Amino acid sequence: SESKLQLVHRHIRAFPDFPKKGILFRDICPILKDAAALTAVIDLFEEHVRNNHQQVDLIVGLDARGFLFGPLLAQRLGIGFVLIRKKGKLPGATVSVSYDLEYGKAEAEVQEDAVAAGQKVLLIDDLLATGGTLYAACELMKKLQAEVLGCMVVIELKELNGIDKLKTHNVFSLVQY
Ligand code: PRP
Ligand code: HPA
Repeated sequence: SESKLQLVHRHIRAFPDFPKKGILFRDICPILKDAAALTAVIDLFEEHVRNNHQQVDLIVGLDARGFLFGPLLAQRLGIGFVLIRKKGKLPGATVSVSYDLEYGKAEAEVQEDAVAAGQKVLLIDDLLATGGTLYAACELMKKLQAEVLGCMVVIELKELNGIDKLKTHNVFSLVQY
């Protein structure tokens, strides 16, 4: 029968020249639309965490598509979820960092009290491209003195060498292109 990984793979599609010419955009919307595929994603992430990490305090998700998977995984693990958002969206005291994207520039932000010093976190997003976004997230966690155990993504775009940019080379991906 079909493996969970095959099920996930079958629910990712590619759009050429989106959002700019030359970018082959990997679209995860079909995963969200299919209950079994979404369950498979969370199952695979959960297995990875249980097999590789003894203690995780929080799952930290990236705006916006990290929010689709992060809370589901956190709930499975019985732990909390923290949001890293694009600048200007979070109330109260925040820390922020700017970063480059495959197709633009952005600024990421987290609430100052979101993670306590010394807490162990796993970062989650839908996709690793240049690594700019996850690098920025690592910088934010450093500012809060959190310990980043690793990063988890549904998709890794290998040719962009995003892993090399990250401080932690502990990146787990379900599907690679
Ligand atoms: C995309 C994607 C990742 C990031 C990956 O998000 O969801 O977060 O880019 O690229 P990188 O590895 O080169 O940094 P995007 O910034 O387009 O924002 P969105 O989730 O709000 O659509
Ligand atoms: N797909 C989805 N999000 C992205 C991509 C992509 O190919 N590249 C950078 N962010």
